[in-house]
Amino acid sequence: MKVISLVGARPQFVKEALVGEAARRLNAWQHVLVHSGQHYDANMSDIFFEELGIPRPDYHLGIGSGSHAQMTAAALTGMEDILLKERPDALMVYGDTNTTLAGALAAAKLHLPVIHVEAGIRMLPKTMPEEINRVLTDRISAVMCCCSELGRRNLAAEGLTVGVSVTGDVMYDLFLRMQPRFTPEATCAAMSLRPGEFVLATLHRDYNVDTPASLRGMLEGLAAVQEELGFAVLLPLHPRTRKRAEEFGVTGLLERLRTCAPVGYLEVMSLASAARFVISDSGGLQKEAYYAGKRCAVMMPDTGWRELVECGWNTLCAPEQKSIVQAASHIMEPLACPEGIYGDGRAAESIISAVIRMPFARA
Ligand code: UD1
Repeated sequence: MKVISLVGARPQFVKEALVGEAARRLNAWQHVLVHSGQHYDANMSDIFFEELGIPRPDYHLGIGSGSHAQMTAAALTGMEDILLKERPDALMVYGDTNTTLAGALAAAKLHLPVIHVEAGIRMLPKTMPEEINRVLTDRISAVMCCCSELGRRNLAAEGLTVGVSVTGDVMYDLFLRMQPRFTPEATCAAMSLRPGEFVLATLHRDYNVDTPASLRGMLEGLAAVQEELGFAVLLPLHPRTRKRAEEFGVTGLLERLRTCAPVGYLEVMSLASAARFVISDSGGLQKEAYYAGKRCAVMMPDTGWRELVECGWNTLCAPEQKSIVQAASHIMEPLACPEGIYGDGRAAESIISAVIRMPFARA
């Protein structure tokens, strides 16, 4: 059996590291890797391949940045060519990016089964590009692998019950595997940060950073956490956020924080492990903070990882100063960490079993 696995953006590299490795180790199928090129800067892409030991992609589409239609269209036509040439038994896609939707659509139109890893996440606003991508991808997938029971329930509410498995989260597998390589003390020392006395922040979500008022509100909130609560705030800057801050004339606010270039997996997890808590609008980091035993203020109106909010570990906040300071004051307090929400660290193997159980799978 041959499976093409499609990646393009940071969170997908992290997931591919585990699933691709397990497929090769278990000899489950011939695993062909395609990189769409949605993320292309060295510290948004290459560093993940190097750190996580992901083999060089077999194909690179080089789609780069552009409007949603331009990116999706470039990946759609590029993937169609590859699928026609390779004739795989299935296409595997991860998460909710434009790359994911484009690949799924190209495969479904060629009547190739789509395997969706991280299926069944739902969150408001429905207009968010990632929400559109994940709803449409689930709709045309043959195999849907959910990180938790919540994913299965969300899919069932939409009438999707066939081909659905709860496999756990591969990002938890990766966390357990890579934890011995985290270097919280050394990373802090290199950045002149004191473990337990700083906050790790990230922001890149389009509805947060593309609007001057919310970008300003978030940066004012982070500056207030630093100045009122007395924690240094470290903000690795996504290229989109840096560009918008320049466009909107708010770089003065950035200067009040500790900023650095985007960091790879080992560095971000070393920082999360050493931080007092995390403030982020990243879908991945809010869950990885939990794996590292850190609470997270989630700068989103809603989250797909609702379990972590319902049990009181994470808290949602609005892109404005008061809400961010309030959330930060709340999560400063320690809490007993709930366990076992996203599997047992063997999600990659569960995903492989879910795929090889499907009728299309053949030796
Ligand atoms: C994308 C995903 C998002 C995921 C995030 C992880 C979509 C719709 N969104 O968001 O779900 O959480 O990746 O990082 O697919 N840029 C560079 N260099 C790069 C990549 C991007 O400069 O290597 C800049 C470009 O100006 C680009 C902008 O960042 O236009 C946004 O990149 P894009 O891939 O469109 O969205 P992300 O915000 O990264």
